[in-house]
Amino acid sequence: MKELLKIQILDFLFHLKNEMGPMQDIEIYLMIQQAQNMQKRAQAPYSKFYVGAIVQTDCGKTFGGCNIESASYGLTICAERVAIFHAIAQGYTNFSRLVLATDTGAYPCGACRQIIYEYCPKSSIIIATPNKIEYTSNKELLPHGFSKNDF
Ligand code: THU
Repeated sequence: MKELLKIQILDFLFHLKNEMGPMQDIEIYLMIQQAQNMQKRAQAPYSKFYVGAIVQTDCGKTFGGCNIESASYGLTICAERVAIFHAIAQGYTNFSRLVLATDTGAYPCGACRQIIYEYCPKSSIIIATPNKIEYTSNKELLPHGFSKNDF
């Protein structure tokens, strides 16, 4: 049974690979799916803007986050920070990729750009909607950013 499952998974991955090209693309595709699943967990009764984020560690583990709003609006926290803090709290501090899922293709807010700059300095950043993918980087999001290296 286990062997059959393995074969089915491999079959699925090869199918995807043929459809989509190199293995890295499949990984990104799967991360986008995960981020879109996180979007469904968003608690956004005020803005109704649902955001999901997945951060991938350099050893390949992924951690998710969604935006969580509060009736005391200022306490709201963005999906990116939830995902990054989630991973850090589980003991991971080196990240290679961050995937963001929204319906509009919005880029991270200023506060998240700062946290991404500090905690995901080498990550590639992927902004996804159900029908478009954009790639960006820390440098592009926060040129001349401030970090502990500036003390
Ligand atoms: N939001 C995020 O989750 N990430 C961002 O980078 C921008 C904003 C959330 C916060 C709030 O729940 C809603 O989107 C509207 O601002």
